[in-house]
Amino acid sequence: MQTADKLLVRALKGETLARPPIWLMRQAGRYLPEYRALRTKAGSFLDLCYNPDFAVEVTLQPIRRFGFDAAILFSDILVVPHALGMDLRFEEGRGPLLDALKDDGDLARLAMDQFHTKLRPVYAAVSGVRATLPAETALIGFAGAPWTVASYMIEGGSSRDFAKTKAWAYQRPESFQRLTNLLVEATASYLIAQIEAGAEVLQLFDSWAGALDHASLLRWSLAPMKAIVDRVRMSHPEVPVIVFPRACGAGYLDFARSSFMHGLGLDSGVPLDWAFTQLQGRIALQGNLDPQLLVAGGEAMTSAATKILDTLGQGPFIFNLGHGIVPETPPEHVGQLVDLVKAWRRP
Ligand code: CP3
Repeated sequence: MQTADKLLVRALKGETLARPPIWLMRQAGRYLPEYRALRTKAGSFLDLCYNPDFAVEVTLQPIRRFGFDAAILFSDILVVPHALGMDLRFEEGRGPLLDALKDDGDLARLAMDQFHTKLRPVYAAVSGVRATLPAETALIGFAGAPWTVASYMIEGGSSRDFAKTKAWAYQRPESFQRLTNLLVEATASYLIAQIEAGAEVLQLFDSWAGALDHASLLRWSLAPMKAIVDRVRMSHPEVPVIVFPRACGAGYLDFARSSFMHGLGLDSGVPLDWAFTQLQGRIALQGNLDPQLLVAGGEAMTSAATKILDTLGQGPFIFNLGHGIVPETPPEHVGQLVDLVKAWRRP
């Protein structure tokens, strides 16, 4: 099947389909026993990411089990700072750890010279997945957005209040702009390499967009993501891009109006009727089942999923969660959700 005929691509090009395509953020991961087994064999999470055979296998696991309409490359947003020269490790129960950037001297030591060499295993994984994916399944490449990636680089890991990152952005905006520009350049180049290896759709994750006030959202989330998409589009105008400025509230209106992207990812807090009337006339939408409803299952899950389908299924739409699958999720519930979405028909 040609890329243009795949359900995900058709929805992103603005088609309202008889039933929307479905894939789920973090569809590969610890909720799957076959993932846990391979991770134990690989040794660590980063060994999974940088070994193309393992990364291909983990990407395909949820496709085999559930028949999603799209596969998402198995990797992590933090391979970009890693390839720029930062130290990165993942510790059990603590999430990612980096040696935090402290000043302009640290910033000046980040460099692109080894960038694509270090990321070569990721590109090999993209090609490997593309070669083995079922004909109708689309392949999504991805990267983190500059604001979210910068926050990990400055905090040295996950954060509750982003105090160091905000102090840097508010007190030294020119310096923070330099870091943002570097991430724009690196990320655009990374995404273009993923397209050239076989990615058919891209998603930019701005997981912490919701931490920004409105003016900062426009400056540090929307503008850099637009700069990345503009660059990718110069060489690959046909490849659709989904942006996910998670939890940005009424800020979603600014994204929909600027419409530099093809699809907009919604978190679970976005009211469905508001999204339908205010956003969907301008752009394809993706989302937004609460990941905890996928843990709960049963009537709570099926009625919430049906409400999403009945509202947003009236326009160009991709069924997804409002954030990633959590490790506690029973795999049977994922199977039930996929069956429900695939059986639904637009009235
Ligand atoms: O969606 C997919 O199936 C593709 C793979 C994927 C991972 N991370 C694998 C992963 C994607 C798209 C990401 C993106 C990512 N990584 C984001 C943006 C999306 C989001 O969740 O907000 C962020 C913020 C990160 C950074 C990151 N990576 C954190 C904070 C953590 C620790 C949290 C956790 O769940 O342990 C990771 C680790 C990580 N990335 C895991 C997986 C499967 C768990 C690693 C493991 O222990 O096996």
